[in-house]
Parts: sequence; C-alpha cells; structure tokens
Amino acid sequence: MNDLNAFPADFTWGVATAAYQIEGAVAEDGRSPSIWDTFSHTPGKVANGDTGDEACDHYHRWPEDIALMRRLGVGAYRFSIAWPRVVPGGAGPVNRAGLAFYDRLTDGLLEAGITPFATLYHWDLPQVLQDRGGWTSRETAEHFAAYAGAVAERLGDRIKDWATLNEPLCSAWIGHLEGRMAPGLTDLASAVRASYHLHLGHGLAVQAVRAASADARVGIVNNLSPIEPATERAEDIAAARRADGHTNRWWLDPVLGRGYPEDMLDLYGVKLPERPGDLDTIAAPLDWLGLNYYFRQIVTADPHGSVPYAKQVLPPGARLTAMDWEVHADGLEQLLMRLTDEYGVARIHITENGSAYRDTVRADGAVDDRERTRYLEEHLAACARALRRGAPLAGYFAWSLMDNFEWAYGYDKRFGLVHVDYATQKRTVKGSGHRYADIIRAAAGHRSRRAA
Ligand code: FCB
Repeated sequence: MNDLNAFPADFTWGVATAAYQIEGAVAEDGRSPSIWDTFSHTPGKVANGDTGDEACDHYHRWPEDIALMRRLGVGAYRFSIAWPRVVPGGAGPVNRAGLAFYDRLTDGLLEAGITPFATLYHWDLPQVLQDRGGWTSRETAEHFAAYAGAVAERLGDRIKDWATLNEPLCSAWIGHLEGRMAPGLTDLASAVRASYHLHLGHGLAVQAVRAASADARVGIVNNLSPIEPATERAEDIAAARRADGHTNRWWLDPVLGRGYPEDMLDLYGVKLPERPGDLDTIAAPLDWLGLNYYFRQIVTADPHGSVPYAKQVLPPGARLTAMDWEVHADGLEQLLMRLTDEYGVARIHITENGSAYRDTVRADGAVDDRERTRYLEEHLAACARALRRGAPLAGYFAWSLMDNFEWAYGYDKRFGLVHVDYATQKRTVKGSGHRYADIIRAAAGHRSRRAA
C-alpha cells in the first residue's frame, strides 16, 4: 500500500457493522423479534446454534466501541438501525426508547469526531411483517418507507449519510431462493417478488428520507462480483452472462434508471408485481452508490442446476479466506471501473470489504493476523489504482470494526479488525486494525503535506 497520494484529501476512512450482528439486547427497550431472531433460533439454520441474542453486547458497550474507533482513527462509522427496535409493530407507532439508542450513539459518534453513516435495513425485518408476507408483499415496502421517514425525522439533523438497503441480493436470492438466510424460503417466484418490493421500498424510502431531511445524502448498498466464464466455450460465456444478470445487473439496472434486464425477466419467467410509476420511484436519483466487495465469480454452465444455471469454480491455486472466498483484489478495481464507465455512477463508497481468517490469540493477547492485513493492503491498492483511473471513489469502510455474528456461520467466522472474546466481551485490536490505523494516519499526513 504505497500510493496514498491517489486518495483525495477528503476521502472517508471508515469501518462498518450491522445491528443484529453486534447489538445483542434483543428483548430490551421494546425491541420485537426480527426474522433473524426466528431464523437463528430455528435448529439447524446457524452453525453451532449460535444466535444474535448477546452478540458483541454493543447495545450496552457502545461507548467503549466508539473509543475503539477513535483509537483506530477512523473518520466514519457505518452501522445499521434495527427496524424492530424503532417500529416494533413493523408498522405503526414509533418506539421512543428504541430510537433513543441510535440518538445516543449518533451523539457519541459526533462527539468523537466520527461521521455516522446509517443503513436503514440490514436484513432484520420485524417478524410481524414476515408473518404478513414480508418482502413478497407490497405493504412491506410502504411500511419500510414510513419507518425510514420516522428515523430520518429524528436523526436527520445529525446524520447526513443514509443507505436504504444493505445487499438486497442477499435478502431476495439467499433469503427467498437459496434458503440459507432468513426467512429461509426456496421459491423463485417469492424471490423475484421480494427483489421487486425491496427495490420499491428503497425508492419510497429515498423519498421519505429526503422529505424528512432536505440535506440528506442517500444511497443504496449492493454486493457485486465481477463474473468471468471458466472457458471460452459458448455455454460458459452464456452462463457468465446469466450470472452477471443475476448478481449484478438485476440489482443495478432498475435503481440506476435502466429498468429490469430483459434477459433476466425471460430467464426467471416471473411477472413483476409492477404498478404504473413504480419504475420511476425505484430509479430515484441517488447521491452515492455503496459497493460491498468480497470475491469474483468464475462460472461454468450448469444446465441441471437452478437459476441462473451457472456454477462457480475456483481457479487452481486460489488463495482462500476462511469463508472459502477467493482473494482477488483486482476484482474490486474492475467493479469500480465498471460502475464508473458503464453505469456513469458519480460517487461511490466501498461500504464493505474484508476477510475472515482463523485468528490465533497469543499468550499476551495480541492477534497477529497477517493474512487479513495483506488482504486489506491489497484491496486498498486496488482502490488507489481505480482512483488513478478516474473512479469517483469517496470512501472505504472496512468490514468489520470487530468480530461479530456472521449470519448462518455464527461466531465461527471472524472478520474484525478488532478481536472479540465472546466469553468476556473483551476487545483487542488485531494487527490488521493497527495497520489500518497506520494507513489512515499516513493518509492524513499526506493530506497536510499537500495542503502546506
Ligand atoms: C456481507 C454482509 C455483512 C457481512 C459480510 C461478511 O454480505 O453485508 O453483514 O456478513 O458479508
């Protein structure tokens, strides 16, 4: 990581988390269960039967966690707001006590000089709404906007940067088609309907946030992957095109005003529950686009599999993280350039990027996580290359501030720059966290030298 000059002076250096993964306190101050409480308490759904019941106990330890962020020197914190804390009924009255938690957190961040970036939905749909159809129902999109408006009304004087949804691909495809995440369905028609209502909810929430807070900067967060065919065979090239539609274009095109990709509508064969005007709502102009990047996909045709009939293969000698995800930093550069050149996106934040590895805690408590450190450096170098090539990259948020509840993988997979001992809730900055702090400090040094 030696090209710090590529990063603009006002670049945002941040860390990211999500409510259910860190907060715990699932029954406190009026919070109602979310689909992830239900899912994690369903035997067999999450590794080791882990749940988010306690997680990192961030709900009580947030002042300590803000202090940690100060130590790292980050300028921004991306966290998510739990809908079931703020509107426990899914729709209807706002729970003042639930919203007050985010009020305290926001003030604490601002006092520490850390800019809050709030995500309004990171997968924790109130279970009461799931019982009424969840994202397969249009009502959920409307309720989401009402909740988003209520939050922005209360916090919009202090929070300027908002993301509507985190990775709607995971909510729709993994939650409704593959069944590996809440609500755990495996039905294509439900998945396509859910994707549509997620997009509609996004568009309606953009309006609601802007109505509540005129100077809000609103975006959406997508997880994308560059897709490559495994061979030059025509069927693999076609598979790569389908996988690209399923993973990337379905999530970018409607939001960026291009409508839903025709080839994918044909492939899914599911009629969208579209009403006049919806596509304009979905394509509401955004202030920024969030990119979560973890891996590329190399695919071969899989005619007997399921939608999109493409199977992922790993290249020989691939470097893998503990998730068995291939480390491939060039893919991040490629995606940034695609968003810039093909989609004409004017402002991008990398809202997540990071790696899970098996960490060993030394006798003195230190965690010397060289692989994660290398991963971080390689991906920041990819950012620098994209910046040199003109990508409008404004920020980078490392996933994650600290080890946390990694969804279906439970606490087994550790992504943190800070280690969490779940028995004692002790936090220890890992080598990668120290390295990130050094980089942020060095970037600030460049900044002041440039200004001088
Ligand atoms: C992303 C999620 C985030 C975290 C990382 C590893 O898909 O947005 O919550 O689990 O993966």
